[in-house]
Amino acid sequence: EVIYLKDYKVPVFLIDHTELRFELKPDKTLVKARLKMRRNPESQDVTRELVLQGDKSLLLCRISVDEHVLNESDFQRNEQGLVVSGVPDQFLLETVTEIHPDQNTALEGLYRSDGVYCTQCEAEGFRRITFYLDRPDVMSVFSTTIEADKDAYPVLLSNGNPVAEGEADEGRHWITWEDPHPKPAYLFALVAGDLKLIEDQYQTLSGRDVALRIYAADKDLDKLDYAMQSLINAMRWDEQVYGREYDLDIYMIVAVDFFNMGAMENKGLNVFNTSCVLASPETTTDLGFQRVEGVVAHEYFHNWSGNRVTCRDWFQLSLKEGFTVFRDAEFSADMNSRTVKRVEDVALLRTAQFAEDAGPMAHPILPASFIEISNFYTMTIYEKGAEVVRMIHTLLGADAFRKGSDLYFDRHDGQAVTTEDFVKAMEDASGKSLVQFRHWYNQAGTPVLNITDAFDSETKTYKLTISQSCPATPGQEVKQPYHIPIAIGLLDSQGGDLVLPNGETTQVLELHHAEQTFEFGGIHEKPVPSLLRGFSAPVKLNYPYSRDNLTFLMSHDSDGFSRWEAAQKLGVDILQSLVADLGQGKELQLGLLLGDAFKVVLDNKDLDKAMVAKVLTLPSEAYLSELADVIDVDAIHEARQFVRQHLANQLETEFYSTYKVCTSTDAYSPSADSIARRSLRNTCLSYLMATGKQEYLELALVQFHEADNMTDSQAALSLVVHSNFVKAGEVILDQFYQRWIDQPLVVNQWLSVQASNPQRGALVQVENLMKHEAFNLQNPNKVRSLIASFCSLNPVNFHAIDGSGYRFLAEQVITLNSLNPQIASRLVTPLTRWKRYNLDRQDIMRKQLQRIMDSGELSRDVFEVVSKSLA
Ligand code: ARG
Ligand code: ZN
Repeated sequence: EVIYLKDYKVPVFLIDHTELRFELKPDKTLVKARLKMRRNPESQDVTRELVLQGDKSLLLCRISVDEHVLNESDFQRNEQGLVVSGVPDQFLLETVTEIHPDQNTALEGLYRSDGVYCTQCEAEGFRRITFYLDRPDVMSVFSTTIEADKDAYPVLLSNGNPVAEGEADEGRHWITWEDPHPKPAYLFALVAGDLKLIEDQYQTLSGRDVALRIYAADKDLDKLDYAMQSLINAMRWDEQVYGREYDLDIYMIVAVDFFNMGAMENKGLNVFNTSCVLASPETTTDLGFQRVEGVVAHEYFHNWSGNRVTCRDWFQLSLKEGFTVFRDAEFSADMNSRTVKRVEDVALLRTAQFAEDAGPMAHPILPASFIEISNFYTMTIYEKGAEVVRMIHTLLGADAFRKGSDLYFDRHDGQAVTTEDFVKAMEDASGKSLVQFRHWYNQAGTPVLNITDAFDSETKTYKLTISQSCPATPGQEVKQPYHIPIAIGLLDSQGGDLVLPNGETTQVLELHHAEQTFEFGGIHEKPVPSLLRGFSAPVKLNYPYSRDNLTFLMSHDSDGFSRWEAAQKLGVDILQSLVADLGQGKELQLGLLLGDAFKVVLDNKDLDKAMVAKVLTLPSEAYLSELADVIDVDAIHEARQFVRQHLANQLETEFYSTYKVCTSTDAYSPSADSIARRSLRNTCLSYLMATGKQEYLELALVQFHEADNMTDSQAALSLVVHSNFVKAGEVILDQFYQRWIDQPLVVNQWLSVQASNPQRGALVQVENLMKHEAFNLQNPNKVRSLIASFCSLNPVNFHAIDGSGYRFLAEQVITLNSLNPQIASRLVTPLTRWKRYNLDRQDIMRKQLQRIMDSGELSRDVFEVVSKSLA
């Protein structure tokens, strides 16, 4: 059941050419495959048995080898697929398979989304379509013919270029697509439906004309322009920054509403969750616009980092995902505010990924084993993987990194390779040893740095002593020291940067040992260190900063990221002591220090408004939970609310005037400047609402009614709904629903606002909404908006001490386990963190995990997560 990296063997057979014919019919679909196969010269295996993967739902109608039809004794069917005995060294394998896309609720393989046929093959969905060598190191040239009813499915798409089409009997038609680039089956795609499109044209650096097409349902045609512009920007950026051009005549994106993840980079034919491609000011928040830009770019960048150079096996997933996330993050940083993007990514990493590293599913970015690969599309593989690539970039510098990526792409174009190949290319191109650095690939867990310093006024030297450690993770008791780039600066008492030995104001220290001391000479007074600038490594860092040090860094550090970080550290310090006070039954008290520091930031007109908003936002409950020894959900919530209210009262005038300053009559634009303005304005509104005053309820209601964009109306909606003004909340929830009833993505936000309501009674509300016409358990976006939002964005209610939240989640997981295992297994996550809570909660959480375990036949997905959590 467990698959190990160490067991990897090259494929025994290869498929040079794959010819597919799909006959799409409502009750069943026929898949006819002609595979030109041959023995792999690189395999030592001399077996004459051909082992093909095929899901148990496949109905094999016919199979032949070199046109000789096989009978039952020539092959064996089992749970995993098909074993054909006595095959020659080279042969044509033909199969006819019957499948049932309408019954496919797992949304893997071929399924229907609102009447549109579409596919999701990564990682192992192709084996739900036909019998095949479904592994990424088997790369084949595909030719695909789709035949379907012409009225219902006028648009028939697959990878590559269309080469032939025609009419068939009974009002049917067909099209043949050919993709000249050999690819693994996970990059195969098919779409058939009544879709409309917008079209544009792109000319690559070397002069190739590319037709750009984005397909969606007719009603969504007005929400595709932003995705198109983002695609064009991404194509240009990859040429400029990585020297990478697009390589086909057509690039297509299709939007579908039923999708397990965000999007999929199928060669020449990306399939997207509507939530990651549709955007319009009226229906999409700023966050939504940024997600569209980022995901469109991510999938485009995969054309090189993923498709042209792909993964040898699924243990190498971070090879393409970590690198591509790094690429899309840098793209977004270049398109918008670099510091804001970094802050957002780090905040996500430090909550979700650090929590994963501290939980039962902790794994290195190159895992050694798995039960179900779908469970490894994780924050670790993606976000930590991107941080690891970023560290290579930091250690090598931009120029050497570019030489390394050029070498990697040139050396491995058309191949299926490993993370080792990537690191090797970086080493070869730069001459820099990454031997010790490789521990980042093999060791799980978040390293902890403890830093102390000493200043000697006689010798004028300043010393930083840095020690590192990494907690044990499942199966990895002891860790080797990491090679860690630590970017630092030193501030003098005026707040200016000292010039460091490298002649600059920021220097990267390279930590290699468990403990190491770095010395700086010619220093005249004890500096304040600015540590881990730009978050140069994905670690936890402890240094005994005083609160005065932190307010000093908040206003003086020349690194924008570090100013935000200082504010976060100050917030964490204050909130942690309040949480401790609550634990001891003390009454909460707070001085003026934090408010005064916030006021300095609010008054500074030179700062980027988006960064001001970030600095003014207290560390999230999720981050405070991640940092806690034992998570006290209620105390964390109460302390944070207390501080928010305290700040609201202390700075009411400033928040109000800033709100006014940020109010504008300009038409909506998703530019960094206008996003920044709205973000600061809504941050101010949230503090004003925290005063509990009626006048600010009115202000929020005016904003709700007058907003010409979803960012402002949704912000007002959630502030009112989450406030004590219950009646007002109910009224506008209803108005909002009636207004947006025809826009599923907006209705999803409506679900999410209610699910994340920290007020009492949210669970009852969620249970009612599950029966609402707007909900559908088979649509992953709905499940995420309602169930996942409740379990992860509403800690106070989810962790209710009567266990009602846990019971609810277990029930949903048990139902979804048979409908959609991938979604079910993702949903379990909050329960897997049971060890982080007090013993009472541990007990009731574990009981619900056990209940899932005992509920009957579990999918591999859910089994892996639940069994590892209980172990
Ligand atoms: N490769 C896709 C992306 O990162 C994700 C697809 C994952 N699909 C899945 N079923 N796990 O863009
Ligand atoms: Zn990806």
